[in-house]
Amino acid sequence: MANKNLPKKQNMNHDELKLRLDALDFELKSASFGDCVELDFDRLSDESEIKSIAKALMPWRKGPFRLAELFIDSEWRSFVKFNALLPHFEANGKRIADVGCNNGYYMFRLNALGARQIVGFDPSELFSSQFAFINHFLKTSIIFERLGVEDLPAYAAQNGAFELIFCLGVLYHRSDPISALKQLKSALAKNGELILDTLIIDRDDELVLSPAKSYAKMSNAYFIPSLRALEGWAARAKFSSFELLFTSDTDLNEQRKTEWIGGQSLNDFLGSDGLTIEGYPAPKRAYIKLK
Ligand SMILES: C[S@@+](CC[C@H](N)C(=O)[O-])C[C@H]1O[C@@H](n2cnc3c(N)ncnc32)[C@H](O)[C@@H]1O
Repeated sequence: MANKNLPKKQNMNHDELKLRLDALDFELKSASFGDCVELDFDRLSDESEIKSIAKALMPWRKGPFRLAELFIDSEWRSFVKFNALLPHFEANGKRIADVGCNNGYYMFRLNALGARQIVGFDPSELFSSQFAFINHFLKTSIIFERLGVEDLPAYAAQNGAFELIFCLGVLYHRSDPISALKQLKSALAKNGELILDTLIIDRDDELVLSPAKSYAKMSNAYFIPSLRALEGWAARAKFSSFELLFTSDTDLNEQRKTEWIGGQSLNDFLGSDGLTIEGYPAPKRAYIKLK
């Protein structure tokens, strides 16, 4: 059965990607990890081939990235989220997991902050290919596992727990969010921290929105809690500390249509009344630290 949480089509499989990447001759000059992950080269045999590979790996949801002259202007300006979170965690020296890591944008930035080891979890073949594409040039030691949050308990039991886990933009895509929180908790080391973000509804009581068909055209958005409901879920998953870091509204500066997605974006998901196209409150996110 098709997994609604993953992109539908994949234009180039991993083997073809590897063949095309191996055929390139290059020497990386430098890389920088500010808002844009930027790669400069001393030698690059075929810049047009790099563009052609990147185009075949569309849609690029997270980024941006620049490889020589090629700017991959992803749908999301992922630095908005990452930069807002920066004051709230310490990456240096830590073993970190990014669950729902997409193409690894946050992992490249965490790596530059001195993480000891980084493991990304995302079942998507496309996003794993995008990661492999960028990492082919960077050659970091980041590990990408094509696994989901549901695989964390077994993975951590076998390979060890994480001192810091990022799980951003995944919880509302899970049809059993309390189980997902338990799975995250099971992979967390003693004194470890989970940085979580999820869509929320702006209410003071313990209610949860469960869209019958879709939320902002996402048919895989199942449960959108109020903050108090989310706090209850976290307690049920045996987290002992729940710290609201901040909330934010998603705007067109952070998420917008670019030539690198070839589909719809936030603009198409909102009605003129400021509600989603289905009449729900517009996207608002809460960023939480759980221990
Ligand atoms: C909305 S994106 C969030 C990406 C990124 N964490 C961020 O906040 O920008 C959701 C990601 O979860 C991934 N995903 C799908 N099923 C998953 C699962 N079972 N476990 C973990 N991640 C999953 C998708 O492939 C996608 O990359």
